[in-house]
Amino acid sequence: MTRDEGRGRVVLVTGGASGIGFATASLLARRGWRVVIGDLDAGRTAGAAAEIGASSIAFDVADEHATEAAMERIEAAHGPVEALFANAGVIQPGSNPEELSMSEFDRVIAVNLRGVYLSCVTAGKRMARRGRGGIVITGSVTASRAAPLHAYAPSKAAAVHMAACLAVEWGRSGVRVNAISPGYVATPPVRAAIERGLRDPQLLRDAAPLGRLVEPEEIGAGVAFLLSDDASAITGINLPVDAGWLAGATMTTYGGMRPAR
Ligand SMILES: NC(=O)c1ccc[n+]([C@@H]2O[C@H](COP(=O)([O-])OP(=O)(O)OC[C@H]3O[C@@H](n4cnc5c(N)ncnc54)[C@H](O)[C@@H]3O)[C@@H](O)[C@H]2O)c1
Repeated sequence: MTRDEGRGRVVLVTGGASGIGFATASLLARRGWRVVIGDLDAGRTAGAAAEIGASSIAFDVADEHATEAAMERIEAAHGPVEALFANAGVIQPGSNPEELSMSEFDRVIAVNLRGVYLSCVTAGKRMARRGRGGIVITGSVTASRAAPLHAYAPSKAAAVHMAACLAVEWGRSGVRVNAISPGYVATPPVRAAIERGLRDPQLLRDAAPLGRLVEPEEIGAGVAFLLSDDASAITGINLPVDAGWLAGATMTTYGGMRPAR
């Protein structure tokens, strides 16, 4: 049975031309949302949108003027944006802090923290005025466990905390804000890191109790739930979708993951 959770309402998915954003946009479109994909490159964004019957708009989430202009154009063309998946983000190779350049640090913070905040405020202030809306921010399991990703992991911890701060701000205005924290998902940047020898896929699988990576659609299912009426009393939370990675993080102390029975 096809679920019509969206009921034709407009959802903006930032970073929707690839990976988790694209899989989520596709799922939301199938569930009756009117999807607008926002991403950097106009041609690539339009191509992704065309594949799933969505609309597209190219803008840089780290640019406040571009983000405000994009929101105005979306609402003029499609009507009120009732949901936002603030997902655009950049990942970072592991490095020592001694070797991490400040330009790389600033680039990660500009997209993953500044850009997420701008997307949320630009959409959220409109939702709050209208008295309804839903926002999901993409966090990461590295928001709550240490990693040698000295800009990325703190940027994600801040993004997860932002969901709680904005949920408190806009709760009385009918806007729910939550975070979703993916475990390891084989999206293009993660696949590229594996191919370059920077990530060992076996280690990623071994660290998860379910013994596997997470599929992009599984993040999409979590986002669809958080935006749906089924989650009408859920706001300010962080939902890990991680094949158990966070729960399993202590198991090296106990001789590794427990075997299948
Ligand atoms: N893949 C994983 O294992 C994993 C795990 C945890 C969290 N995440 C997070 O999930 C989100 C999506 O990552 P992904 O793995 O699907 O990567 P991806 O590279 O496949 O998709 C990210 C998209 O964001 C877009 N983007 C980047 N900077 C932008 C900007 N300034 N403005 C607009 N769009 C921009 C990119 O063009 C790209 O299309 C990111 O926030 C990432 O940090 C990914």
